[in-house]
Amino acid sequence: MTAPFWVLLILLLSTLPAGPVFAEKVKLDSSHWGHEAGEDCVSCHSKSSAGLASQWRESAHAEAGVNCMDCHQADRADVDAIEHEGQIIATIVSPQDCGRCHEKELAEQQGSVHAEAFAIIEDRLPALADNVGGPAMRAASCDQCHGSRVKVKGDGSLDAATWPNSGIGRINPDGSKGSCSSCHGRHRFSKAQAREPAACVRCHSGPDSPDKEVFEASKHGMIYAAQREDMNLDAPEWVAGRDYTAAPTCVTCHMGGAGKLPPSHDVGMRNVWNLNAPVSERQYLVVFEDGVKMELPESAEVPKRGSELVRPDGSSGTVKVVATPKRRRQAMSMVCLECHSKGFTQGFMDQFDSVVELFNSKFALPAREIMDALYREELLTPTPFDEPIEFTYWELWHDEGARARHGAAMMSPNHAWWEGMYVVGRSFYARFLPEARAVAGAKSPVLVDAVLAEDAAHQWLRDPGQSSPILGFGHEESH
Ligand code: HEC
Ligand code: HEC
Ligand code: HEC
Ligand code: HEC
Ligand code: HEC
Ligand code: HEC
Ligand code: HEC
Ligand code: HEC
Repeated sequence: MTAPFWVLLILLLSTLPAGPVFAEKVKLDSSHWGHEAGEDCVSCHSKSSAGLASQWRESAHAEAGVNCMDCHQADRADVDAIEHEGQIIATIVSPQDCGRCHEKELAEQQGSVHAEAFAIIEDRLPALADNVGGPAMRAASCDQCHGSRVKVKGDGSLDAATWPNSGIGRINPDGSKGSCSSCHGRHRFSKAQAREPAACVRCHSGPDSPDKEVFEASKHGMIYAAQREDMNLDAPEWVAGRDYTAAPTCVTCHMGGAGKLPPSHDVGMRNVWNLNAPVSERQYLVVFEDGVKMELPESAEVPKRGSELVRPDGSSGTVKVVATPKRRRQAMSMVCLECHSKGFTQGFMDQFDSVVELFNSKFALPAREIMDALYREELLTPTPFDEPIEFTYWELWHDEGARARHGAAMMSPNHAWWEGMYVVGRSFYARFLPEARAVAGAKSPVLVDAVLAEDAAHQWLRDPGQSSPILGFGHEESH
């Protein structure tokens, strides 16, 4: 096999420099660590907060001689620097701080969908968190998963409205994004722990992103539970097909090495669709010369290598490489191929893609078109969540539709149908359409019914004589 394009892409992604969004910090090697003040930290903290010090003692860091000060040291000029027992420290240890020793992981993590999780929802926080809940909800919910914008008070201490927080896209005082202790429990920072599905479930569970539930209900989850001791979770390296074969976990498919496919801290690289959007679209992954990454929908014009592109934050960048949805799918399929055949893998992907396409054409596109029309005609106020149909629509794509799509992506038939598309259908026909007609009034034939007529999938509504939903079995003559 000649070096395929994905090899180039993946090699590029794994050797990227960190983006220029924050000030450079000094890179460290073993001659730098083992800060002499570290012993005092350990000895006093073995009395106060003893648990934390003993977790550190059992860590690979302690074994390698990396101590408290190697991570917590700060410059006097840092906004969050505090003077503590004669040393200048910061409580927050940002990705940029870890990256002084773990450059590769930092480069992969920065610019990933995870690191951008705060920016992507920032505009929705007030509407959902503040209006529907109350400001206190931000710190305790959205921000715990998506990340907070950490505020530092005048004395260098951290504002309790924004910290403690280890959200996946946290905006740190030094400008870097995310939190390495989202997945890595401190102060062990054990990679065996991070390989467990449990590392992801704090955020990836519940009605809108039920990946925990989906995984547990899948055959993969079944085998993982039965054969956990065969998973070799403690291995120094953890490559599917070589170091273990029993079953895949979240990490196997989204981050881990598999055969020749290298591991990566960018969880989005192998994904084709944006499954948590009102309408899913296949996505290009664009990588810029300076390491910044960006996704573009398939319907957008594909940028050429070397061309200049304006990015969401307003800066412009030179395109280094573009991964097409097809290449991204090949990367994910390489994981499957360590344990399954080509035909099996392709067949599964076809089944999955068809569910996403069904959701789009039958429910997501018509619902979006109807909502757009109701806003355009000023039949709904522009304020989000002040009208019942806005809740119905939000749940249709963000919860119910997400469950169906995640269920089909990760092999839980229950979530694909009973918890997913069945609920989508019920909400669409029995809540969304009646509410839309009530809002549209006399304009219903144009704003609602004409939209439904565009898709043959709704023809059954006008087709008398089909099976009866009450009896469940339709025209029964023989019973
Ligand atoms: C003589 C005892 C002592 C020494 C030495 C010491 N600490 Fe502490 N440290 C404490 C105590 C007590 C607290 C809790 C203070 C409080 O409750 O706010 C604390 C708090 C902290 C905090 C949390 C601050 C916050 O924002 O909540 C960090 C981080 C920390 N220490 C790190 C270190 C590091 C790194 C060193 C080594 C330079 C060190 N400590 C040395 C006693 C000590
Ligand atoms: C590998 C880097 C690393 C090392 C080594 C390390 N810490 Fe931390 N520490 C962190 C991170 C990450 C956080 C979470 C702060 C944040 O970013 O929000 C943290 C948080 C803390 C906190 C506040 C959180 C809490 O649970 O109270 C204290 C106190 C603390 N560290 C003390 C220590 C002490 C004492 C040592 C040495 C025994 C130590 N740390 C070693 C990375 C490290
Ligand atoms: C339990 C963790 C958790 C909490 C709490 C949470 N989210 Fe999310 N949210 C997620 C995850 C995980 C995803 C993405 C899943 C995916 O991409 O498949 C997501 C996706 C989203 C999306 C869709 C993102 C997109 O790309 O369009 C929006 C919008 C959103 N969340 C807003 C919020 C708001 C606002 C709050 C608080 C009111 C909140 N979330 C609370 C975990 C959470
Ligand atoms: C989404 C969860 C997640 C986040 C966030 C995360 N990690 Fe990891 N990390 C993992 C997993 C899972 C592994 C084990 C991967 C494997 O063995 O294939 C790991 C492994 C590592 C390793 C060991 C690598 C090796 O080859 O031995 C280091 C070092 C590391 N992470 C550093 C970081 C740093 C630094 C950050 C923040 C920039 C970070 N991680 C953020 C999940 C995460
Ligand atoms: C001063 C250098 C230094 C800093 C700062 C540092 N590490 Fe490490 N880290 C190491 C060394 C050395 C090892 C052990 C050798 C190795 O695995 O590379 C290690 C190992 C690890 C491992 C693998 C643990 C295992 O089970 O084998 C993880 C995960 C990790 N670090 C995460 C982090 C995170 C997250 C941060 C920031 C909160 C961080 N490190 C900060 C030097 C550092
Ligand atoms: C602290 C919360 C948190 C943890 C822990 C976490 N994630 Fe996420 N993850 C999120 C949020 C929030 C999003 C949505 C980001 C967005 O849409 O911007 C997300 C998105 C994703 C995506 C979608 C990427 C894409 O292409 O859209 C994948 C895949 C993913 N996470 C996998 C994982 C895996 C695997 C783990 C565990 C090793 C994990 N996550 C741990 C919060 C988390
Ligand atoms: C057998 C492989 C496999 C396992 C195990 C797995 N996933 Fe997935 N996951 C996929 C595939 C395939 C997709 C769809 C990718 C695409 O869009 O092409 C997906 C999609 C996702 C998405 C949605 C991404 C988006 O575009 O919004 C998230 C989030 C996610 N997975 C998280 C997890 C978490 C968390 C776990 C563990 C609880 C997990 N996955 C286990 C293969 C897996
Ligand atoms: C580490 C090995 C491993 C990897 C990697 C893996 N699987 Fe599996 N998969 C299994 C095992 C084991 C089973 C259970 C087989 C059985 O029923 O005997 C399974 C079952 C399945 C099933 C259910 C089949 C059935 O007969 O009901 C599907 C579908 C599936 N895998 C798809 C995938 C896809 C798609 C990927 C890649 C995104 C993937 N798997 C990655 C090991 C793996």
